[in-house]
Amino acid sequence: MLLPCVRSGAARRLGRAVPRACSCSAQGPSARRCSGKGLVLGVYSSEKDDGVAQFTSAGDAFDRLVSGKLRALLSLCGPPLKKGKTRIFHGLHQDFPSVVVVGLGKKNAGINEQENWNEGKENIRTAVAVGCRQIQDLEIPCVEVDPCGDAQAAAEGAVLGLHEYNELKQKKKPVVSPQLHGSAENQAWQKGVIYAEGQNLARYLMEAPANYITPIKFAEHIEQKLRTFSNVKVHIRPESWITTQEMGAFLSVAKGSAEPPIFLEIHYLGGANTNDSPLVFVGKGVTFDSGGISLKPSSGMDAMRADMGGAATVCSAIVTAAALNLPLNIIGLAPLCENMPSGKANKPGDVVRAKNGKTIQVDNTDAEGRLLLADALCYAHNFNARAIVNAATLTGAMDVALGSAATGVFTNSSWLWTHLYEASILTGDRVWRMPLFEHYTKQVTDCPLADVSNIGKYSRAGGACTAAAFLKEFVTASHWAHLDIAGVMSNKDEVPYLRKGMAGRPTRTLVEFAARLSQDSHNAK
Ligand code: BES
Ligand code: ZN
Ligand code: ZN
Repeated sequence: MLLPCVRSGAARRLGRAVPRACSCSAQGPSARRCSGKGLVLGVYSSEKDDGVAQFTSAGDAFDRLVSGKLRALLSLCGPPLKKGKTRIFHGLHQDFPSVVVVGLGKKNAGINEQENWNEGKENIRTAVAVGCRQIQDLEIPCVEVDPCGDAQAAAEGAVLGLHEYNELKQKKKPVVSPQLHGSAENQAWQKGVIYAEGQNLARYLMEAPANYITPIKFAEHIEQKLRTFSNVKVHIRPESWITTQEMGAFLSVAKGSAEPPIFLEIHYLGGANTNDSPLVFVGKGVTFDSGGISLKPSSGMDAMRADMGGAATVCSAIVTAAALNLPLNIIGLAPLCENMPSGKANKPGDVVRAKNGKTIQVDNTDAEGRLLLADALCYAHNFNARAIVNAATLTGAMDVALGSAATGVFTNSSWLWTHLYEASILTGDRVWRMPLFEHYTKQVTDCPLADVSNIGKYSRAGGACTAAAFLKEFVTASHWAHLDIAGVMSNKDEVPYLRKGMAGRPTRTLVEFAARLSQDSHNAK
């Protein structure tokens, strides 16, 4: 009888060596170089205490194919698999030399009201990501994935879980291409692949070093991604255009760097009419934030290559909307520049003038994101938008407040909030509503030399809220939301289906939000 090739601790728990029935003939590290496909199958935690594995329908079908050997081997290995834990079996079937079985948790997990997400979908994303990575570790180039009852979530888990920024290393992780096991849920699987690839695009742009993703390189990368769509127009606006637009706040940050600024403007026309009011996305695009003259500490400063995460997530969301052919119009705006100290840089106390004529006292040059956004938000009002949504890695205070659990959303519109919130329950990339009180507005408008200061007068207190109150000074639209994504910028191990690194959050929530808006019959304006 075949015995499992155990790699996840079952042998240790059994307290004896388990012979391997792997299809690979070689021993040692090369034994992992299996040919053929890998297979990832989910298994629910047992509802009764009988220890009997509850397979998914794909798991059941495979078990029948191998005459019940999978079930027999699993029960031989010990107690039922816990959520996200795996067992690997080799040599069960000639088409699948390696089969990873992974724990999915409770069978009927759905929306968890305490957690504000769909736990069933999260469990699938995690399980599939873990399973696919095990196949990657075995250097098997192809893996078929059990849809686990939700092929979109499974595809997201596979494509997000396998992603890693390898670009600049000579030794790269083997490429694994995930495929749906079976064909019944192909459409949902494809949708999941597109959503996840969207988030991976944002992760790529955020992770890449700042000397690779400069403002112009960022714009060209996005332009290249959108080239194939006939209903998309990309404008890469140079510094001269920014000057004619009188974006004095944005320019004041950009002038500290030798790298020229860019204003990226994307028009995706997926709506029934090209003149339907668009959704306008705005993203902070600081390709490197040194802090400027208010220089940041050097430790950890490299992470500020991801300070264009707002631009990366909104532009990637538009690329994804185009790939999904969503039936709405979306405009994307990304002011892109570096924040550097130099003889030309902003100095604390300088006063600059934004596009709407308001003067801003730059009390801290490290609060630069809001200067770019002030001008971009003024410009966003040119488009008769259904809604304006901006995303920005704006404040360290946002990270202090919520950590990486959720994006902070500051909005003047409960309609907009509801759409964002409902979208995030599905994607698992959560949002949490934050206040836009007059209380904070007073703290930025009480300013000695100008209409508004770029920091709150009580410095760090409520830092994410005073930043949002500052942005509000440049908004007249009645459906506006500011997403502070500083806390969700990177992942250590909090989101199990994302590897360590820049997270590309909340791209999928933005896409799901746009998809919902495209179906919203009320067309609130
Ligand atoms: N880009 C930073 C915010 C940030 C910090 C993003 C950590 C991601 C992780 C932003 O430009 C900044 O430096 N903000 C200052 C504002 C302060 C000077 C009022 C901050 O948060 O310290
Ligand atoms: Zn800064
Ligand atoms: Zn910044």
